[in-house]
Amino acid sequence: MRGTVALRRLVAETSLEPRHLVLPMFVADGIDDPRPISSMPGVVQHTLDSLRSAATDAVEAGVGGLMLFGVPREEDKDEAGSGATDPDGILNRGLGALKTELGDATVLMADTCLDEFTSHGHCGVLSDDGRVDNDATLARYVEMAIAQAEAGAHLLGPSGMMDGQVAAIRKGLDAAGHTDVGQLAYSAKYASVFYGPFREAVSSSLEGDRRTYQQDSANRRESLLEVDLDLAEGADLVLVKPAMSYLDVLREVADRSPVPVAAYQISGEYAMITAAAQNGWIDRDAAVLESLLSIRRAGADIVLTYWAAEAAGWLS
Ligand code: PBG
Repeated sequence: MRGTVALRRLVAETSLEPRHLVLPMFVADGIDDPRPISSMPGVVQHTLDSLRSAATDAVEAGVGGLMLFGVPREEDKDEAGSGATDPDGILNRGLGALKTELGDATVLMADTCLDEFTSHGHCGVLSDDGRVDNDATLARYVEMAIAQAEAGAHLLGPSGMMDGQVAAIRKGLDAAGHTDVGQLAYSAKYASVFYGPFREAVSSSLEGDRRTYQQDSANRRESLLEVDLDLAEGADLVLVKPAMSYLDVLREVADRSPVPVAAYQISGEYAMITAAAQNGWIDRDAAVLESLLSIRRAGADIVLTYWAAEAAGWLS
């Protein structure tokens, strides 16, 4: 059954199509030209102009959607992450620009999390003891969600791992009339060293770590609990992150989830394959496709990957 390309194609259990891929993109304030991210060769912080054109190219290549992150100017960061809720904040301006450019031709998603906007780099606001204050953070997420919905997002991606974030955002969106804006809930999100390059991608320095709110990589059952909670709170899709070191978790979530499941092939995964390929140690394009197919095989309906546009081009 493996003897020819046609035989293998006939019996392939898993497929990879452009629509399965979502491209995460970064838009930065106060830059005149796209700024390369050195730990993620090939990925840049966009200007509003370059964002528009790269997003259009990705959509033409057939990607299923775009996930936008904002990179504010250093001087605009504060303890509360005010730039996240400001309609003129860079993420909301980026969403607006993409909505004007692309309308409903793609699925526009936004990172609903404060870390890009806070001076301390945490995903929420801090209490006096320096820990993230869960419930005070929820109030900020609700404001952020409404601002993103107003800017044109179709789906919000609450990624801060606060308890109750999906329910709080759902209630806030509904009360503000945004009943059609859904949530791609980052349900099983682990405290991972593989987010390393993302700090440079969003020009953020983190004091301490995220282990008090993101999951411990030793745990598997906990992910199932997190997924159940998010579903009960109204999640429209659930996400597992990172992808490649957590394929077992992804499989279990996929087996149980009644809603579509996404997985995020994160910055460190991108960096590892890119670095090995740059050294001539692996075939880059084949490694990209194998990694994406593996994530699909483990149960992801949707894969967020920095290779989304490029891979969609190969596949279409
Ligand atoms: C939080 C967020 C992070 C990533 C996506 N959303 C960083 C974190 O939680 O530490 C990481 C994505 C990547 O590493 O590619 N806003």
